[in-house]
Formats: sequence, structure tokens, C-alpha cells
Amino acid sequence: MKSKLHAAAGAVAMLTIATFWVSTLVSETFGTDEQVAQVKFTILYGMVLLIPAMAAVGGSGFAMGKGWRGKQILAKHLRMKIIGGNGILILIPSAFFLASRAQVPNFDGWFYAVQTLEIIAGATNFILLGLNMRYGIALARRRKKATAP
Ligand code: HEM
Repeated sequence: MKSKLHAAAGAVAMLTIATFWVSTLVSETFGTDEQVAQVKFTILYGMVLLIPAMAAVGGSGFAMGKGWRGKQILAKHLRMKIIGGNGILILIPSAFFLASRAQVPNFDGWFYAVQTLEIIAGATNFILLGLNMRYGIALARRRKKATAP
């Protein structure tokens, strides 16, 4: 049950990041200033979904990982730390900065510099989450094999 919730929280986190990423690229490539501002503002609300999903996948992962040994679990731990650091140090502050600039609107060099950083950090987190998901599926298989009658 815990591993299902863990997997579901991971999937929600990945979907939310993918939605932020695609809507940012589409609005800033094809949209009007108002649409960009709307997307940047909506992303702030989306954090209400992303932050608890991240906390849930990380918290349940660390809790479930206690009984495990091996490279895969160490890699999942390390990735989760990078994902969390990226989120707290780059993604959350960038989302507030970009939303406030887009409201003015002020699409200056700083906006695009921070936007580029956010796009890179978002893609990095998506990839790291995906790798953790892959290793998670492998670990679940290992457990099922070990406990099979
Ligand atoms: C601190 C980081 C994490 C640790 C220590 C961790 C640990 C684990 C462990 C031990 C399992 C096997 C559970 C079992 O079958 O008993 C698992 C499964 C899984 N994990 Fe993680 N995890 C972490 C983060 C993540 C993240 C960020 C994702 C992102 C998507 C993820 C996705 C999954 C998935 C899909 C499964 C398979 C669940 C199932 O099929 O039942 N994990 N994880």
C-alpha cells in the first residue's frame, strides 16, 4: 500500500513538472504577454500540488528505503537530495521571480536568464524522477521475487 502511494506521488510530481515545462515553452514561444503571465501565475498555484507530492514521494521513499541495501537505493537517495535542492534553491524562487516579472510585464534579460535556469532545473528534476521511478520498479520486482513462494 505504501509503495503504491509512493509511486502515485512520484507520478503526480513528474506530471506536474512536465505540465509546467511544456506550458512554459509553448506560451513563451507562441503566446502573448498576457498568456505568459497567466502561465507563470498558474504555475505558482501548481506548486500547491507539486510540493506535497515531492514531500510524499521523498518521505515515503526514505522510510521504505530503510530496510534496503545496494547501489540502487543509494542512487535513489542521492537523486532525491539533488531533486529537493533544485526545487528549494532554484525552482520555487524562480517561479515567484518569473511570475512577478510577467505580471508587470518586464521581460528583460533577467527574466530570460532565470527562465533558462528554471527550464534546465525542471528538466533535470524530471529526468532524475524518471530514473528513480525506473529503479523503484526494479526494486519492487526484486522484493516480489524475494517474497514469492
Ligand atoms: C529518497 C528517495 C527514494 C527512495 C529511498 C525510494 C525507495 C523505494 C523502495 C525501497 C521501493 C521498493 C518498495 C517495495 O516494493 O517494497 C521503491 C519503489 C518505487 N519507487 Fe521509490 N524511492 C525514492 C524516490 C522515488 C522517486 C522520486 C520516485 C519517482 C517517481 C520513485 C518511484 C518509485 C516507483 C514507481 C516504485 C515502484 C512501486 C511499486 O511498483 O510498487 N521513488 N522506492
